[in-house]
Amino acid sequence: MKLTLIAAMLAATALLAGCKDAGPAKPETTAVPDSAAALTLTVYKTPSCGCCKKWVSHLEQQGVVAQTKDYDDLSGIKERYGITPQYYSCHTAVSEQGYAFEGHIPAKYIRKFLAESHPDAIGLSVPAMPLGSPGMEVEGRFMPYDILLLHKDGSASVYAHISDAAMQ
Ligand code: CU
Ligand code: CU
Repeated sequence: MKLTLIAAMLAATALLAGCKDAGPAKPETTAVPDSAAALTLTVYKTPSCGCCKKWVSHLEQQGVVAQTKDYDDLSGIKERYGITPQYYSCHTAVSEQGYAFEGHIPAKYIRKFLAESHPDAIGLSVPAMPLGSPGMEVEGRFMPYDILLLHKDGSASVYAHISDAAMQ
């Protein structure tokens, strides 16, 4: 009986260890599973932007706590995080770790990115405002788009190609 319990515990420990990705070690302050872990983003947007508000609603529906800050000009914020104009969109979100998330990125890719290790990244961007991305819904239309990984050296690579609305 006792041996069975120990064996079960060892198996569970091995399983947990196998699930862990190579991300940076995080302080273990909570027993809440990762998928339900709290995520807070500060969203810098302009006060009149309707699609920004819709993106914030998308975040909230996905369980993200969004703290919005309105500015008439966001170029200073984008510059501070090293986002260059070709990667600009309408809003810039920033995680507690200091990663930047530019534009209409689906919340699940922000969670995925934050669960990984990205020491050389600024964050992610969906440049411009693709039709059908979260917050850009217009009559069910959808335009495939890329989520870009922005590197600290100013380059970018494709992090995910979103070919279908169901991927969001
Ligand atoms: Cu927008
Ligand atoms: Cu926006």
